[in-house]
Amino acid sequence: MGKRVILYGLGAKLFLFLVLASTDVLSFGFGEVSISEENDLEIGRKLEMLNKPAVKSIQSEDGDVIDCVDIYKQPSLDHPALKNHKIQIKPTITYPETPSTASRAVPQIWQKSGSCPEGTIPIRRIQKQDLLRASSLDRYGRKSPYVFNNPNNNTLYDITPNNTRNFNYLNHTGASNNVFVNRSIAVLLTLGYHYIGAKGEINVWNPEVEKPDEYTTAQMWVVNGDHFAETAEAGWMVNPTVYGDTATRFFVYWTADASQKTGCFDLMCQGFVQINSEIVLGGKLDPVSSFEGHQYHIPLFMYWDKNTQNWWLEYDGKQVGYWPAELYGVLKLSAVTVQWGGEVYSNTIMHRDMNHTSTKMGNGIEALYHFSAWIRNTKIIDYSAVEKYPEWVHEYMDEPDCYSSFNWVEYVKEPILYFGGRGRSPKCP
Ligand SMILES: *[C@@H]1O[C@H](CO)[C@@H](O)[C@H](O)[C@H]1NC(C)=O
Ligand SMILES: *[C@@H]1O[C@H](CO)[C@@H](O)[C@H](O)[C@H]1NC(C)=O
Ligand SMILES: *[C@@H]1O[C@H](CO)[C@@H](O)[C@H](O)[C@H]1NC(C)=O
Ligand SMILES: *[C@@H]1O[C@H](CO)[C@@H](O)[C@H](O)[C@H]1NC(C)=O
Repeated sequence: MGKRVILYGLGAKLFLFLVLASTDVLSFGFGEVSISEENDLEIGRKLEMLNKPAVKSIQSEDGDVIDCVDIYKQPSLDHPALKNHKIQIKPTITYPETPSTASRAVPQIWQKSGSCPEGTIPIRRIQKQDLLRASSLDRYGRKSPYVFNNPNNNTLYDITPNNTRNFNYLNHTGASNNVFVNRSIAVLLTLGYHYIGAKGEINVWNPEVEKPDEYTTAQMWVVNGDHFAETAEAGWMVNPTVYGDTATRFFVYWTADASQKTGCFDLMCQGFVQINSEIVLGGKLDPVSSFEGHQYHIPLFMYWDKNTQNWWLEYDGKQVGYWPAELYGVLKLSAVTVQWGGEVYSNTIMHRDMNHTSTKMGNGIEALYHFSAWIRNTKIIDYSAVEKYPEWVHEYMDEPDCYSSFNWVEYVKEPILYFGGRGRSPKCP
């Protein structure tokens, strides 16, 4: 794998040397297949459940096959809780559009090869080899469960931000106190109010992932429920196990039980209801940002429709679809936490006897004004229904020496969140 050295001038005297591994090559194999071939029948059944008959199929130049599926035949409608669900074609509420900022929103590659007719939604076809890469069929397309290191001490949501006494999440100092096992986040978070909307413009990069069973995201979360139980999430991700390559892809995620038994990425299980005929969940984003060149971003907006209790998702001002109220317990009423930032998943995070993963977050540079990946326009909407910057925010990091977040508030009209890191390094062994 090629390495290149990039040199930056910061003022006249200060230079920053960054060694970045180029990430355009899939440099690892997937090793052993974990699902036995005997499960062929079950695999066939699962594929049939996920891949609905297409009105039209599009071969994208990046290798994906996009099926245009009748909107009323999409997989999520098979969810037992959605048996009587009536697809909501439009949100019942609208918010004024945010003027788009200078950098460019990223197109999806498959759009060059065709489009889906009205009344259908584009779905990235799931292939047998996608399922074979999962640790089990049940866990296919799902984040690994959120496991707490210290289950007796994790009152995550204390409603007063000032009171961090029982708020382990905001007050943890090292491995022994780690809240989540095998994952590391560096985020900006706000909590304590009833949020019904969250916005963010997420800078798009293609960071290196060290091992195929690891992933790195840049995303937003809206959360409610004990122990991070109920979430709706969206952003971009590099996830070789889920997508079979190291491309940067747009994703959505949800869970109602901290990823124990429910939830998945994109449409890899029943859940998210899509209404948009132009945007594919899991679609490859290209181009991505570069240090010398243009900055690209994806503008996301998640908001709650008070009349249906569905959580809507907008991508660059276009409604993608929604997480139906039926999926959730308390998140269908409001969110109590909103987070912006990155997450790295790996089995070699905070294990004393193992080297830390070198999977990168953001663009591989720790939170630093101007240089690291950013998220702008980090706004929330509370019951006042006005879009605003949160009254209280906190930069939270699981491993500040590995991945960091920094909210830039000085000399700028709007705060900008910088986040990221390179994982293993002398200070993150
Ligand atoms: C919380 O902290 C802020 C800033 O430190 C302070 O202005 C506010 O009064 C505090 N609120 C409570 C309830 O103590
Ligand atoms: C954080 O946790 C430590 C040890 O668990 C405790 O001593 C300290 O008071 C806590 N800090 C805050 C701000 O609650
Ligand atoms: C975390 O990683 C360790 C190996 O380092 C593995 O044994 C364990 O099963 C993982 N736990 C979860 C919840 O992923
Ligand atoms: C950790 O990395 C060092 C240096 O790269 C290497 O010598 C060592 O074998 C690694 N340890 C493990 C447990 O992989």
